[in-house]
Amino acid sequence: MKTNVALSPSVTKNMPTHVGLVMDGNGRWAKQRGLSRIEGHQRGAERLRDIVKICPELGVQFLTAFAFSTENWKRGDEEVNGLVDLFRKYIGSESRELVEKGIKIKFIGNRTAFDQSLVDQMCQLELASHSNDKLVLTIAINYGGRDEIVKMAQAVATQALAGHLNVEQIDESVLNKHSFTHYMPDPELIIRTSGETRISNFLLWQVAYSEIVFDDVLWPEFTPERFKEHVVNFEHKIRRFGSITMKV
Ligand code: FPP
Repeated sequence: MKTNVALSPSVTKNMPTHVGLVMDGNGRWAKQRGLSRIEGHQRGAERLRDIVKICPELGVQFLTAFAFSTENWKRGDEEVNGLVDLFRKYIGSESRELVEKGIKIKFIGNRTAFDQSLVDQMCQLELASHSNDKLVLTIAINYGGRDEIVKMAQAVATQALAGHLNVEQIDESVLNKHSFTHYMPDPELIIRTSGETRISNFLLWQVAYSEIVFDDVLWPEFTPERFKEHVVNFEHKIRRFGSITMKV
């Protein structure tokens, strides 16, 4: 990939503050090497760790990673159980370093589908990292964009039925307050690896004006340098907000 700007850790006001990742291609990477799909996901988890580390120096304040979709349950038991085990191990092995490095961790998605011990691990990590401010790492797990929008609609309808809200008062900001990502800005940049050119139910509400980059690299081979190139290239993209054209 060509980069017009010399890579440097200097941060400009045009760098994206929130980047979303669709970490695709673990299975294909593993198959190409005669490895199991879970080994591909393990390698993928290592790549996420590398990307997290360089976000603060790039000025990326929010990183949201799609780790497990509401559709991923359709995969075989072996892969689903392997992924759940991987989340457990990842939280177990990474928690301390993440917290020490000042990273705040949040999980979005329907966690009630997971066993209580994993839910407890997730809550404890969120709590332990609550006051950190170097980066907000959000892991989307059993997450679906449509599921989120349904939950937003349900929450707003409940408020209206209880008489706390008139229908005329419902606007984008009211809905947004009930989004899973209400604590951060929308992502300016989404990166999907493995050459697939779909959004696959990721942050549907939030990607309205996001720049979306599709990279052919399989996720287990996605390096921090490549991430940095996408972040730096973002600076040169023109985004159109309705009729207003602005350089971001
Ligand atoms: C898609 O690749 C990837 C996933 C469904 C899982 C992503 C999970 C990780 C990268 C693990 C790390 C996350 C954490 C938080 C530990 P795919 O399996 O669909 O690949 P394929 O399209 O090549 O089959």
